[in-house]
Amino acid sequence: VEDAARLTDAPVEGLVFDLDGVLTDTAEQHYQAWKRLAERHGLVFDRERNEGLRGVSRAESLRLLLDGVHVDEATFERMLADKNADYVRALDGLGPDDVLPGAHRVLEDARSRGWRLAVASSSRNARTVLDRLGLTSAFEALVDGTAGLPAKPAPDLFLQAAEELGLAPAGCVVIEDAASGVAAAIAAGMRVVGVGPVQRVGDADLVVDGLDSLDLDAVASLPVRDR
Ligand code: BG6
Ligand code: MG
Repeated sequence: VEDAARLTDAPVEGLVFDLDGVLTDTAEQHYQAWKRLAERHGLVFDRERNEGLRGVSRAESLRLLLDGVHVDEATFERMLADKNADYVRALDGLGPDDVLPGAHRVLEDARSRGWRLAVASSSRNARTVLDRLGLTSAFEALVDGTAGLPAKPAPDLFLQAAEELGLAPAGCVVIEDAASGVAAAIAAGMRVVGVGPVQRVGDADLVVDGLDSLDLDAVASLPVRDR
């Protein structure tokens, strides 16, 4: 009885999307930029190690990439700037065709249900990416790496997005491709859809290969879990 009550207590009222790897495949451009940086510095880096960097902030990503290799602070800062310049250059090639399959349909379907829509991304380049994709006006709120909030897996970006939508966390469902993002959503008290392999996003309430296989009826009936 209590379970049924909890279910109806928290109807879905909003979706909070991660950006990189969910709405567009910039996860690939991030990977390529880190890989080029690693090669320039003689560091070992590959796709497998990159899985751990998904959703992780720029500085924390570099720490993971360095994997204990010591560099002085000036070098660390220069490496961050180099990687970002390389990544931003790659964004020049990004356009509306790079919105991943299913994204427009999911956004339209959500809108027709009256759900509110936000983006919460750790990236400081999120606004540029959304602009290039032609998606900026699709969302009522954008909380990103420029907000000065702790990065995922901290819940802050998602909580701020819910607040800007005027919704309680329990009414929001997060869509995430990163383990750190799934953890952040759970910490925020939100239900979460994982996009990608279960090895990466298996802690999510629902796992899909991509937005093209996401059914919003299934999202609407996700039970609020006891965590
Ligand atoms: C996340 C990406 O969205 O943003 C990470 O998944 C990235 O790969 C992080 O490191 C920070 O992005 P940026 O653009 O500020 O370096
Ligand atoms: Mg992501």
